[in-house]
Amino acid sequence: MLGQNRTVNIVVGVTGGIAAYKTVHLVRLLTKAGHDVTVVPTEDALRFVGTPTWEALSRHPVTTSVHDDVARVRHVALGQGANLVIVAPATANSIAKITAGIADNLLGTTLLATEAPVLLAPAMHAEMWRNAATQANIATLTSRGVHLVGPADGELAGGDSGPGRMAEPEQILEAALALLAPRDLEGLRVVVSAGGTREPIDPVRFLGNRSSGRQGIALAADAAARGADVTVVAANISADVLADARHPSIRVLPVGTAAELADAMKEAARAADIVIMAAAVADYRPATVSEHKLTKEQGLLTRLDLVENEDVVAALAASRAEGRAPHGQTIVAFAAETSEDPVERRERARRKRERKGVDLLAVNLANADHGFEKRDNAVEIVGGGGAVVSSASGSKHAVARAILDAVRSMR
Ligand SMILES: Cc1cc2nc3c(=O)[nH]c(=O)nc-3n(C[C@H](O)[C@H](O)[C@H](O)COP(=O)(O)O)c2cc1C
Repeated sequence: MLGQNRTVNIVVGVTGGIAAYKTVHLVRLLTKAGHDVTVVPTEDALRFVGTPTWEALSRHPVTTSVHDDVARVRHVALGQGANLVIVAPATANSIAKITAGIADNLLGTTLLATEAPVLLAPAMHAEMWRNAATQANIATLTSRGVHLVGPADGELAGGDSGPGRMAEPEQILEAALALLAPRDLEGLRVVVSAGGTREPIDPVRFLGNRSSGRQGIALAADAAARGADVTVVAANISADVLADARHPSIRVLPVGTAAELADAMKEAARAADIVIMAAAVADYRPATVSEHKLTKEQGLLTRLDLVENEDVVAALAASRAEGRAPHGQTIVAFAAETSEDPVERRERARRKRERKGVDLLAVNLANADHGFEKRDNAVEIVGGGGAVVSSASGSKHAVARAILDAVRSMR
């Protein structure tokens, strides 16, 4: 299983087509998702996008030759160590060579030496794609278990159009993640709350928090990739962040306030096997919401009376305790901590987990480098008796994988 303790090594082969510029974005997406990426271009590919770009993005040396780094037997080591090999774009020429098992460059030897899944993203002119030789090669490769993503029907280089356009980087990423993910959440219904609630004061102002929703969305995307059927209760998440949750098995329910989030979560949790409360929910809301904008002149903005919001996670745990949830439902809550003292943090986590009645508490270190609005996160996952069952830091996807692994092992 590809859990958080194992680095996922992905080789991205790049061959000589114009679509290589789109692979730049793919490499960024893969590294952003927390994967270790080594780029293996062909000589022709380097005429389209050069070595410095690949090295800077992947943070690994890049070569096309089997004669570099011979001490580490690089020509086979890359393929042996890979969890996945992607070739994007895959030219007609390289597809033919892969079919024939030709190994006259580093990409060829890597592909022969690997036992990992291979994903090709073909890109070429429509005539080249339709050509009987290419089609026969593709048929042979797929019969051997090689996976394909695309090509799409659309605009091609030089103004032509037809089948042969390389799949978009996001699609290739999705196909790659699907191949990598253990399908260990297949058949399970997961509900994730994500984002931050906003409690209106008047028509233009609200009490809010700095949660972007990235961690919750990463959890939703990773759970879907592992086979789960996912509902995201999304509180005020930007379209940009929500784009990562585009998956046929993810349903998004937008909400605004803590009360709306509570209603949506209670409804969704009634049929959920796993509930993850990653949203930052306001503890209090203004006692009254003004219909009209409050003005300075009226002196109405110097004081705000607050009332307490319902504790959603505690309500969900109580519901489960009363048997109003599927048998064996797992509930995960989050706690943001600013304390740098691990002993104090863990003691608070132990008490909070018990008070809320949840199975796991992901203690989120919110400081200058991690947490709210940041791309990276660091968590300690606290289970029964306050024991730290797992910890993870890095991208929010790496943290999501650790949380899902912890849920999986406790179920
Ligand atoms: C501007 C330009 C664009 C090209 N685009 C493609 C392409 O999209 N698909 C393809 O199969 N070949 C394309 N070719 C041809 C390949 O670059 C050529 O077949 C080359 O030998 C491929 O080598 P490689 O597979 O080792 O990278 C293109 C060539 C040029 C000059």
